[in-house]
Amino acid sequence: MIDQYAVFGNPVAQSKSPAIHARFAEQTGEQLQYSKQLVAEDAFSETADAFFAAGGKGLNITVPFKQDAYSYAAKLTVRARRAGAVNTLTMREGVVQGDTTDGVGMLRDITENLGWTVAGQRVLVLGAGGAVRGILEPLLEQQPQHVVIANRTVSKALQLSKAFAEMGYILGCDIDMLPGQRFDLIINGTSASLQGSLPPLPDDLLHEGGRAYDMMYSAQPTVFLQWAQQHGAAATADGLGMLVEQAAESFSIWRGVRPATQPVISAIRQELQASV
Ligand code: ATR
Repeated sequence: MIDQYAVFGNPVAQSKSPAIHARFAEQTGEQLQYSKQLVAEDAFSETADAFFAAGGKGLNITVPFKQDAYSYAAKLTVRARRAGAVNTLTMREGVVQGDTTDGVGMLRDITENLGWTVAGQRVLVLGAGGAVRGILEPLLEQQPQHVVIANRTVSKALQLSKAFAEMGYILGCDIDMLPGQRFDLIINGTSASLQGSLPPLPDDLLHEGGRAYDMMYSAQPTVFLQWAQQHGAAATADGLGMLVEQAAESFSIWRGVRPATQPVISAIRQELQASV
């Protein structure tokens, strides 16, 4: 039987993972099938059990199951433990291993695809949910000058800054405390973008030559990236590259081969734009 992989989510119809992995498989000559599976909100572990019992090799996990996958995995990588979430499950010698590839995917997109420097930069991260937690370790590994996490609910920003304090200079604050602060790189990790809204940001938040990255993506620039373009950003990017890079990292965990991401990012971007 051909090796089976899938993405579990709810909703999952919109997932681009099958299209991305099909392109990786074609490019590398790997023989595999990758499907999407809508999983009932309360049925994650039974559905994962059934998938692996049928010989499934690996799963990607998307909203809202990344914490369920974390609990489900029999073994966790250090980075998954720090992120508190799992987006990649792999059956290896009868044991389900959990990993997270979102953070490393985002940093690879920023530093390699976009060629932006993070080392020595003043970085602002907007939001303090699960998505942000997942990027903090690889972000701090780049040795920015400092990272400020600003969140509507300040307690969550403070919790995160405390949890990662040993890894670098990181502070938490309320969005209302941003006036007077300026940054070289702003990363939007709030889900507000998805609803087309934006936390209130001061006009001079970006230093000259500053850059903006949205972890969300869409066919048109997100509201956050529109804001950045109107407020002097030298460069902006959305999270489509992150999506493809996290998939490439999962693919290489499963298959031991790293696919080229640039042609896949371009192809998915074209499909996205053609769909509007
Ligand atoms: P995810 O796993 O995608 O990070 P989450 O854990 O629900 O999802 O976190 C969503 C993040 O977006 C949070 O930081 C949230 O702020 P709160 O902690 O105050 O809820 C932020 N967020 C969502 N909608 C927002 C909005 N309209 N304005 C500002 N922040 C928003």
